[in-house]
Amino acid sequence: MTNLFDLTGKTAVAIGGNGVLGSAMAKGLASHGAKVAIVGRNLETAEQVVNEIAENGGEAKAFAADVSSKDSLIQAANDIEQWSGGWDILLNAPGTNSATPFFELDMDEYDKIMNINLKGIVMTCQVFAKRMLEQERKGSIINISSVSSTTPLSRVFTYSVSKAGLNSVTQFLAREFAPHGIRVNAIIPGFFPAEQNRKILDKERIESIMSHTPMNRFGEAEELQGATVWLASDKASSFVTGALIRVDGGFGAMTI
Ligand SMILES: NC(=O)c1ccc[n+]([C@@H]2O[C@H](COP(=O)([O-])OP(=O)(O)OC[C@H]3O[C@@H](n4cnc5c(N)ncnc54)[C@H](O)[C@@H]3O)[C@@H](O)[C@H]2O)c1
Repeated sequence: MTNLFDLTGKTAVAIGGNGVLGSAMAKGLASHGAKVAIVGRNLETAEQVVNEIAENGGEAKAFAADVSSKDSLIQAANDIEQWSGGWDILLNAPGTNSATPFFELDMDEYDKIMNINLKGIVMTCQVFAKRMLEQERKGSIINISSVSSTTPLSRVFTYSVSKAGLNSVTQFLAREFAPHGIRVNAIIPGFFPAEQNRKILDKERIESIMSHTPMNRFGEAEELQGATVWLASDKASSFVTGALIRVDGGFGAMTI
């Protein structure tokens, strides 16, 4: 029987594949047969993820890149191309956050968040999707958005703006790349404890999140693997592009 979720023979590039969510998603791709380039700002943590994938019989290699520098992304793309010849799947999972009140927001902080969460993904798509097009590779791009992208979350102004922009980038590129056989989708995770939101998740915030999450719990990073593998697979999600897929315990379905 054809395995809809088999990624054998595919190469995935996981930008931010050393983060809490990105590493779980990258491991999901590897466990379904994809060879994965783990791209992190910090090579050491990327190598840890590579080792964990190898321990489970998968194939991966660590590469360094800072998504706020196009030169750094071009260098990483050159190195990955040497390693694998090209790629079919691009997972964009870097991100940063802050909870500075609106009127106290420093514009350097605003620029830093936008440079990573929005401009960084735009540049990543410019560099990595361009080579997919040049090689006439069909494939899948998966961006990691947020519940704050459709209705803004309290306290995280710049983050919400950046993720709203990312939804637009996702849908724009879905239109642009569809004729070339490249699908572009975003996953909207609910709340998963991770590094970038650790400082923001105080007691009051956690209570507020739980009261708006019908499943009444945080997500586990591994719970993003199903949606990731589905969107990565040209067999399983062949007619899906420009979609914003919620994996949020029902957060997006909640009012009062
Ligand atoms: N954790 C959640 O609840 C949650 C919810 C919705 C969306 N997200 C999104 O998921 C993605 C992953 O975040 P996470 O929660 O796993 O946090 P995390 O802090 O564990 O991971 C973030 C990753 O981004 C990388 N990164 C930051 N700046 C970078 C740069 N300039 N260049 C390259 N990499 C950079 C970090 O090194 C890290 O690997 C982010 O886009 C985040 O916005 C997370």
